[in-house]
Amino acid sequence: MIINGKKISNELDASMKKEVLSLKAKGIEPKLVVILVGDDPASQIYVRNKHRKAIKLGIKSIVDRRSKTFSQNELLDLIDTYNRDESVHGILVQLPLPKQIDETAIIRAIAAAKDVDGFRPENVGKLFANSKEHYPVSCTPKGIMTMLDYYHIDPKGQHAVIVGDSNIVGRPMGALLLNAGATVTYTHILTKNLSEFTRTADILVVATGVAHLIKGSDVKPGATVIDVGMDRDENGKLVGDVDFEAAQHVAGAITPVPGGVGPMTITTLMQQTLELTKAANR
Ligand code: GUN
Repeated sequence: MIINGKKISNELDASMKKEVLSLKAKGIEPKLVVILVGDDPASQIYVRNKHRKAIKLGIKSIVDRRSKTFSQNELLDLIDTYNRDESVHGILVQLPLPKQIDETAIIRAIAAAKDVDGFRPENVGKLFANSKEHYPVSCTPKGIMTMLDYYHIDPKGQHAVIVGDSNIVGRPMGALLLNAGATVTYTHILTKNLSEFTRTADILVVATGVAHLIKGSDVKPGATVIDVGMDRDENGKLVGDVDFEAAQHVAGAITPVPGGVGPMTITTLMQQTLELTKAANR
């Protein structure tokens, strides 16, 4: 089975559109600010896609582009301006940032009520403590949970193997799956004998940025394979971290690239923008 992220995303978009209309009828206009510093080509594409989606749903979207020489203090001032602007509900600073800027300091500068990425330490803490409160969670792993749920793939008791240790995907993904009752193994690019781990995964989530790292023989027959990669192969074609052609014959369910995880990330960002908007108007 091919997991169709695009289809789920379209369905969720339709209900969010209605939700935006009902908020607007009450005089509330959801508003997301995305700050992009520098000219990273992948970031440009991600930010453009986020903007387009927001517009499509009727969410007000500001993309604030700054040059690659923008300083940390300038960025802190800019965030402060948006923190104090009551018309803004969510602030997203696109990562990675140029090297003169400390990401940790920037993440901490975003007001907790506007942390649409869920990157602030208290939100990460709630996730890892399995808090029952409402809090934002990194959009890619949260979107993957929505996708699993849609296909009735229940992580409870399953062995989930995460490949990749990033703060944006790997780490929060493991926490979400653990919270959902999975047995979680974290692996990454330094893991010795990686295949021995991946072959025992009932749910395999791969987020390394290494094109075709995972071969068909690395997948357990019948497993659910989630490919977060957005890589270029030797011909410049967009491919994932999983060799889809080979793995689709082994997996029970698998996400394609493109059309799998990507659309769900953006839809989740919009869901969280609406959550923060509602929370600000309670
Ligand atoms: N860069 C890649 N993914 C993300 C994301 O989910 N949020 C932010 N802020 N930057 C990213």
